[in-house]
This record gives sequence, C-alpha cells and structure tokens, in this order.
Amino acid sequence: MVIPDFVFSRLPKIIFGSGKFKLLPEIIKEQAQHVLLVTGKHSFRRTCQWNLLIENLNAQGTVWQDFIIAAEPSPALIDEAVQANADNNIDLLVAIGGGSVIDAGKAISAMLTLQAPVQEYLEGVGNKKHPGNKLPFIAVPTTSGTGTEATKNASLSQVGKTGFKKSLRHDNFVPDIALLDPQLSVSCPKEITANCGMDAFAQLLESYVSPKSTPLTDALAISGLEAIRDSLLTAYQENGNIEARAGMAYAALLSGITLAHAGLGIVHSLSSTIGGYCTIPHGVICGTLLGPGMKMNIEKLKQQGKASFSSLHKHAKVGALLRKQPLKDVFQGCEWLLQTIAEWKTFLKLPGLKSFGMESSDVEHLASETPIRNNPVHLETEDIQNILLENLKS
Ligand SMILES: [Fe+2]
Repeated sequence: MVIPDFVFSRLPKIIFGSGKFKLLPEIIKEQAQHVLLVTGKHSFRRTCQWNLLIENLNAQGTVWQDFIIAAEPSPALIDEAVQANADNNIDLLVAIGGGSVIDAGKAISAMLTLQAPVQEYLEGVGNKKHPGNKLPFIAVPTTSGTGTEATKNASLSQVGKTGFKKSLRHDNFVPDIALLDPQLSVSCPKEITANCGMDAFAQLLESYVSPKSTPLTDALAISGLEAIRDSLLTAYQENGNIEARAGMAYAALLSGITLAHAGLGIVHSLSSTIGGYCTIPHGVICGTLLGPGMKMNIEKLKQQGKASFSSLHKHAKVGALLRKQPLKDVFQGCEWLLQTIAEWKTFLKLPGLKSFGMESSDVEHLASETPIRNNPVHLETEDIQNILLENLKS
C-alpha cells in the first residue's frame, strides 16, 4: 500500500454525548466573565435547555449578551454583530444552532478582534489577509449537517445577481471546543433534519472520492457514511430517537473533518454558486444535486476506462456500503449508489431547484460561474449545465 504525504491540521476539543450540554455553563465559567451567545431565531430558544443555560449563567454571575442569526449570514450581518458588541468586553463566543449560526459565530469571533468590515477579508472578494487572531469560540450544533464545528472557515453569502458565497478562512478559526449533544437536535424540524443530513452525506461522499483524499480521511469518511446509512432515515422519521440523532451528529462532525482535509467536488462547487445567486438552503441544494452530480461523475469516469478505475471503485464501494451488500461488480456498486441517493431524495421529500424558481435560462450563467475543484473527474461547462438541467426535470 502506498500512503501519500499529507498534513492533518488541528481539530477542536470534542465533547460528545447525550446530556453533555449541561456542562456548558461550567465550561463558560472556567473561560470567561462576559460571553456572547449567538443563536438562531426560534427552535433552540424555545427549549428548556436554553432556559436552563440562561438560569445557570445568571446564577454563577456570568455576564452575557446575545445576538440572533435569522438567516444565512451575510457580511452586513457580521458587521452589525461586531459593532453591537465592540465595547462589551466580550471574552468568549458560544454559537448554538445550525450551520449558519455557527458560521456566523465563527466570523464574529474573528472580526471582534479586528473590528473592520468582514468583506475585506473574504476569499475571492476582499484583498486583505486575516492575521488569525480571534476570541475563544465554542460551537454547539443543534442540527447535524455542515460539520462547521470542525472546520477552519465560515461561509458568508450576499444574495443577488452579482452575489457570492465565500469563506472567511484561517487555520486558527477551527473552534476551540465542539460540544455535540444529540438531545439538542430532537427539536430540529423534520425538513431541516432531511436537508442537513443530506448535506453531511454529500460532504462525506465528495471528500471520500476527492483526488485529495488520504487513507486517514477515507477511514473517517467510511465511518461517517456507515453512520448516515444507519441513522438518517430513522432520525427523519423519529425526532426523539437519540441513537439516530447521535449517529447523525457523529456523521456531520466527521464530514467537517474530511471536507477540511480532502475538499469537496462539483455538488458543493455548485452549491456555492447557487447560494450567492438565490436563497435556497445549502442542504437542499446539496441533497437535490447529489444524484445528478454523482451520475455525471460516474459516466465520465466510465468513459475514461482503466485510468479511472480506482475512483470508480470508490463510488461502487459506497454503493455496496449503503446497501449492506458485498461488492462483486463495480458497475453494480455504482448503480446501487445512484439508486440509494434517488430513493433517499424521495423518502426525505427533498424539493428540486425548480420549486425555488430556478429556470433553464439560469443554467448557462450558473455553470459558467462554477469552478471545478477536488472533483474526481474533469467536467466541461456543458456537463455542469446538464447536471442542473437534469435536476430541473424533477
Ligand atoms: Fe455542505
């Protein structure tokens, strides 16, 4: 076996387990006098866990502020949060919520130290390089999806014809602590469980077949894919199934680690372009494009023959893993993968892009704006157009 060179960068301190959220006040007390709590608008703030956290912070004398993230974070929203808290002597940020909330918390923790417009530091948008200093940051995911609790970037988007979805990125931006308690996702609405779960699935699959994957990322991706197979549909059907919720939290965490080290392919490249163009949840874009994206990749790999056999074999191996079948034939394994993605999309009631107003006239522009990075096979702009057109048929 030839093991390629690779660098495995830092990870957060991971606290994982049912009921671990109750440790949070004590963790905050050890680190801070004045904490900024970043949350979403509704789901979590209606739970008894939120009430208990606030009671405990008040009882132990921790001063706290909060800031609500009501949508996918934009640069303007991050600037607003920074300005609102610039003089509050914040010494710790805790973000409790879905991927958007944690990305926002990550960006606020990085920008409170600079107090400058975040857009100047966004990849591909601004021309300044962030020095990497930030406030201590704890990520507490309440949905299982983006894996941003384990990554070094925060995705921010500005939606519109000239919009963008770009990252604020630095090795130091990996959260200091990722606290994962599957009980927190019990209050996650059904469609968000579906969308976020398909995002984690797409991240594990795309990082597994990425040309930058390594034996280490492969091992984590396979473990995460097994957890998705065993947990996603159950978590969707049974909100309160803690074992399934734990499986999804574990899979999402691993997807964040593998994507940070191996990168992502065409499905996530398209999700970045579309995310800057119109308001569609990230998980929906990834989940609904995963089938056409994988179908295109597999067709192209087949056309390349022997040269692409190892990559085709990886796709087939995932198909066999998802079906719990031994892999005897690579083409059969690839078929299993595509069939499973299509079955899950139907079961989870994932909408197509057409239901968000996307039309075939949008396709040419979107495809031409989508860069190809870390995809297992080269795609022409026409191939990317065909991925989108295939989705618009559904
Ligand atoms: Fe994603």
